[in-house]
Amino acid sequence: MNTVYFPPKTILAIESSCDDTAIAVVRNGRTVLASIMDSQTTLHQPYGGVIPELAARHHLTCIHGLLETCLAEAKIALNDIEAVAATIGPGLIGSLLVGASVAKTLSLITEKPFLAVHHLYAHVASNYLESDLEPPFLCLLVSGGHTQLIHVKSYAEMAIVGETLDDAVGEAYDKVARIMGLGYPGGPILDKLAQQGGGNPKAITLPTPKTQNPWDFSFSGLKTAFVRKWEAETDELETIPKQLQADFAASFQATAVKILLKKTVACAEALGLKTLSVAGGVSANSALRGAFLALRDEGYRVHIPKMGYCTDNAAMVGASAFFNPLAEGDLGMDVFSRVL
Ligand code: KG4
Ligand code: ZN
Repeated sequence: MNTVYFPPKTILAIESSCDDTAIAVVRNGRTVLASIMDSQTTLHQPYGGVIPELAARHHLTCIHGLLETCLAEAKIALNDIEAVAATIGPGLIGSLLVGASVAKTLSLITEKPFLAVHHLYAHVASNYLESDLEPPFLCLLVSGGHTQLIHVKSYAEMAIVGETLDDAVGEAYDKVARIMGLGYPGGPILDKLAQQGGGNPKAITLPTPKTQNPWDFSFSGLKTAFVRKWEAETDELETIPKQLQADFAASFQATAVKILLKKTVACAEALGLKTLSVAGGVSANSALRGAFLALRDEGYRVHIPKMGYCTDNAAMVGASAFFNPLAEGDLGMDVFSRVL
């Protein structure tokens, strides 16, 4: 039971660390008054990945309109906001600068505090949105750049107890999808094919890598084995049979989810934790969600954020700013100190 007292706060939050411009108003770290975003997927699609300069410029063009819309949706005036928060890292520097500069300017104009937020803490905090989840719990954080097991001991105290030694699982999804010619963004497309394509998850045998620390992850071996098998099967083919593509997608998804689930459960057992959560973009994955929710039958409390709070969003920044704001410059991540 946590006895920490948080003063009530209505926070305006901005997230612009990568290719989504997002703004939200969040009350007391849990109640979302408004959460909107402008996705740049179609902008970067022709390049097969995010182009940092284009991302930063697009944030700049849409952020002011989003701010007006968000305040209107939240039915709140700028002066009624009690603090302004923004992600200050990790992320693309040009993109971070846009959101953080707007937030700092708003904080100066309104004379309300600026709260700096760590993007990964924000993903963890997405679990508090519209829920009554309280620490302690074990959080599997799976995004495009990170795969970590985080022991959330209290709102403010978190320990990374395991992490990937090479590729993040989202990165592996995206790379494998690219090799298969599935397009961008790869993760959700591969997920859909794996779930709905009628593929056999046992058709392709893929390795589950061992790590010295049993709670660490490694996805580069899985990715390389996948690519070798895919190339061996498809090199001579003019057109790739749909069934073959579905079999590969289903087999990759089954293996990735098995690894994530097994390590999380082993880690929770070792730490004596019965509450689990999943966060980050890959927590939108249908098979991963299904596998984790099934753990409820084994006596675990399982929390997964609503779909809209899995991938990058600003509501999670508002939650993190309330429960766990950074002291500016913490972790050497202050975006301003890195460029000025
Ligand atoms: O958290 P996020 O939105 O951005 C980062 O902080 O990285 O995560 C993006 C990652 C991408 O790799 C994307 O392919 C993956 O999350 N992702 C998925 C799914 N939806 C997003 N991966 C697998 N299945 C999905 N349904
Ligand atoms: Zn993220």
